[in-house]
Amino acid sequence: METLDNLHQRDKVGVDDFVLLENFEDKDAFLENLRKRYKENIIYTYIGQVLISVNPYKDLNIYNRNYIESYQNVNFYELAPHIFAIADASYRQMVDECRDQCILISGESGSGKTEASKKILQYLAEISSHDSAIQHVKNKLLYSNPVLEAFGNSKTSRNNNSSRFGKYMDVEFDNLGTPTGGHINVYLLEKSRVVFQSRNERNFHIFYQVLKGLDEETLLRLGLRRDPADYFYLNQNLDTSDDYTANEAEQFRVVREAFRHFEFSEQEEFSMLSIIASILHLGTVGFYEEDDGDHQAVISNLKPVNLICQLLECDPEMLKKALTHRTIEARDESLPTGLNREQAIYARDALAKAIYERLFLWLVSKLNDSLKNKNKAKSGRNLMGLLDIYGFEIFEKNHFEQFCINYCNEKLQQLFIELTLKSEQEEYRREQIEWEPVKYFNNQIICDLIEQRHKGIIDFLDEECLRPGEPNDFTFLAKLEENLGQHSRMALVKGLNNKNRNNAVTDQFKISHYAGEVVYDVTGFIDKNNDLLFRDLKKAMCSSKSVIISQLFHADELSNLRRPTTTATQFRHSLSNLMSLLKSKQPWYIRCIKPNEHQMAHSFDTRIVSHQVQYLGLMENLRVRRAGFAYRREYEQFLERYKCLSPETWPHYRGSAKRGVEELMRHFGFGEAEYKLGLTKIFIRFPKTLFTIEDAFQKQKHALATMIQALYRGHRQRQIYLQIRHSTILLQAQMRKVLAIRLLEKRKWAVQVVRNFVKGFMTRNDAPNKFNIWFLRQVKVEWLKKLSKKLPTSILDNSWPPAPSSCREASMLLRPLHKQWLVRKYIFSLSPQRKELLGEKLLAEELFKGKKASYQSSIAEPYAANRLGQRDEEMRRNYFELKIKRENEKAQYCCLVNKYDRHGYKLRSRVLILTNLKFYLLDDKKFTVKEAIPLSSITGLLTSNKSDSVFIVQVPAENKEKGDLILEYSPRLIELLTKIVKIIGKDKLVISDSANVEHTMANGKRGQICFADGRSYEIVKRKDGILQVSSASA
Ligand SMILES: Nc1ncnc2c1ncn2[C@@H]1O[C@H](COP(=O)(O)OP(=O)(O)OP(=O)(O)O)[C@@H](O)[C@H]1O
Ligand SMILES: [Mg+2]
Repeated sequence: METLDNLHQRDKVGVDDFVLLENFEDKDAFLENLRKRYKENIIYTYIGQVLISVNPYKDLNIYNRNYIESYQNVNFYELAPHIFAIADASYRQMVDECRDQCILISGESGSGKTEASKKILQYLAEISSHDSAIQHVKNKLLYSNPVLEAFGNSKTSRNNNSSRFGKYMDVEFDNLGTPTGGHINVYLLEKSRVVFQSRNERNFHIFYQVLKGLDEETLLRLGLRRDPADYFYLNQNLDTSDDYTANEAEQFRVVREAFRHFEFSEQEEFSMLSIIASILHLGTVGFYEEDDGDHQAVISNLKPVNLICQLLECDPEMLKKALTHRTIEARDESLPTGLNREQAIYARDALAKAIYERLFLWLVSKLNDSLKNKNKAKSGRNLMGLLDIYGFEIFEKNHFEQFCINYCNEKLQQLFIELTLKSEQEEYRREQIEWEPVKYFNNQIICDLIEQRHKGIIDFLDEECLRPGEPNDFTFLAKLEENLGQHSRMALVKGLNNKNRNNAVTDQFKISHYAGEVVYDVTGFIDKNNDLLFRDLKKAMCSSKSVIISQLFHADELSNLRRPTTTATQFRHSLSNLMSLLKSKQPWYIRCIKPNEHQMAHSFDTRIVSHQVQYLGLMENLRVRRAGFAYRREYEQFLERYKCLSPETWPHYRGSAKRGVEELMRHFGFGEAEYKLGLTKIFIRFPKTLFTIEDAFQKQKHALATMIQALYRGHRQRQIYLQIRHSTILLQAQMRKVLAIRLLEKRKWAVQVVRNFVKGFMTRNDAPNKFNIWFLRQVKVEWLKKLSKKLPTSILDNSWPPAPSSCREASMLLRPLHKQWLVRKYIFSLSPQRKELLGEKLLAEELFKGKKASYQSSIAEPYAANRLGQRDEEMRRNYFELKIKRENEKAQYCCLVNKYDRHGYKLRSRVLILTNLKFYLLDDKKFTVKEAIPLSSITGLLTSNKSDSVFIVQVPAENKEKGDLILEYSPRLIELLTKIVKIIGKDKLVISDSANVEHTMANGKRGQICFADGRSYEIVKRKDGILQVSSASA
């Protein structure tokens, strides 16, 4: 079995499109390709869009769900040839282009036409909506087949299930492609089969199904026996070994199920069964001739006739009479005439055939009523037509039926020519494609030969049937010879071909059909064309009360005295209607071929197939197709589909569509031979060229989809962005508006403020008004604010910001206040030590400012309480503090001084320690006390007003032995003196401005010190014994 995977492999066996065949004019190569593929179970092959199907006679499992899914919505040429590809392509074209379609299935009996049409119906049902309401419609469409097959099919020598009628079925779809209804037309039911079957053939299936499938009770009611051998209409060539009967009961069950789907009432169903039974009974009605010389026929067994009358609810007497008599209407009289046995049998069979044919047509009309789309309100409907009609037939003996069938095939060939060959060539001409017209045989001449008014075979036949006198088949043949004897396509066949007959008699005529020559046996032409049912029988039927028979035979048929239309003419009409039906639709062709005569699998009889290839005109079809182009498409549509394949045409081609297509083909590198450019269409010669393009497109599609997705996403994001942007701008605008309004108000306010301010300024000196009061207040506030930032922060800073005149008074009040505050703050921030130090400084100022020259240079340095070096301080702490000083004594000042000896002014270094009680001089080395003068005993303290550093500590007389102390403390005399004075009191200090100063010495002697100005500071003992202290004058 062909798997789904290798479905995609093209050219697997042979070529799958005959267009690709190397030597396409070689019939053997054609047949070989078919054979090769058939051997591999590949039954389908294309000629362009025409599908050739070879009957496999076995189940290939190629119609399952997987196959249906694979072929759905797939490009026609993409997959291996299949009937589903045709079904899908036509269905899609119907839906996409809202155009009615028709699929024409033709081929010999047994080639698989009916099966093909069922496969198409199956496909259409599967791919359309599965809604339950629609399922109902689909069921009806599908169930129409078992009903029609039961009543219209039979086993023939060629096909166990041969359709004995032509069928055209329209499936109606709404514009979404959902089936909504349908309509069936039937053509030329082979009703002669009801009364006669050839060897190995059977009557219509329904007779056997009824006998096999009905329950005993119903059989009894119908007066039937189960065995077909009991009925003349079934037993003439009954083959008891026939295994075809095996599942008849089951088939009958399906038929009854179908009746239910089509809403047949029980009464109708029973009435139908009664009719079937009546026909069987009718077959058993026998006649014998009375010996009275009249040859009047007499019914030999009345039982079946009574049964028939009972079943058909008609008048028994009428029927009995009608079966053996006929009334001849002549002018105003009607004459009853007896029938001989042969005529009676003829009449009986005519009745059986008529009833059956009318029943069949009634059944079809019932199906149509039920299939009719009840919902007419829905707009837009499309039709898909399926034509399953007998193919060209050539038998050993060809009768009126073959004549009709072959005529039908001529008409279909004509249609084929018109729709494909002719229109194809016309299209090339229209498109101005360089094109060598292909010669094909136009069978119009044969159609004319058969159907032309007053000149065609049918009209001659009718003429002969209707003419008064004694017309018969031979007079008809003579008429043909007379009128059409010279026709190139017709000839009378003289005796030699007819070995069974007298050589002199010609009972055959030959027509050279497009598919081959067929010799027709003229016997029965007149009869079959007349299709005579005697009025008496019609009348008897009209008397029926049966629900169906009363519909099949109308009384007005009796009142109409005109001859009924002949069979051939009726057929011509229905064919002409069929042709106009088909012409209005887009045609698709399925050409069925049977591979052998034995209904056998795996057998390919090249001879038989060759005939069919010829009858179907496949070689001609291929020739035109090959000469032509496999594919054509309007430039716009072609470019639209494939423009993505070339950078020049993608995404937009600015030039004309034709130029764009040219660009595309150049891009693919196809040569002149592969395509042609017409006025509005591109014509591609070979399918494989198209495959290349299509394959590239399939690949590119994914890339495009991604791009489209990206673009779409981008677009959507941009929309969102634009919306956000818009909203933002709106919001911003609103916000700006609000802010602008605020600013405006602020400015207005500010202008007012400024204006008031200016007014206030201008009238600042006037009597108080609202402006200047505010202005002045503002000025004051501003000044105060400014002042607060510029206030002096240090007591020494004497700056003060200027004040406007209105604040001047306040400024003057604030300034000292602030100063006081600063001072107060400063004072509070001082430590006691620092306070004391400052007190000493103040004291020093008081004592020495303007009085002693060295004072000025002492100001900068802060005072300290101890000026000893590290060693001396250690000594002081360890020695003086521990051993010398008394408990309540506390050192106030310590330093290293020079002492001038009172005897001869010798210079010695001494450590001076001033306590709160005494004035000590200690040896600078050993720290022994040299002098310890209680402070209270110091009488004075003398220093010059010059810049020297000498001072004299005057002590009272009781210390006269030693005399006053002459000391020098060079760097910080002012500090030392201030410290001493602070303890002993200011009044003890004397700053002498005289040059010579006396002092006491030991033993009451007096010494003299001279304070003189000099160039540098110097202390020397003059020769006269006076100590001279020279200081550098300022
Ligand atoms: N595609 C197929 N697969 C399998 N078997 C098939 C296929 N087509 C036809 N057959 C077999 O061939 C038989 C005859 O086919 P079908 O009845 O369709 O022929 P037909 O062309 O309609 O003949 P007729 O003109 O006598 O009605 C079917 O009963 C079936 O057994
Ligand atoms: Mg058939």
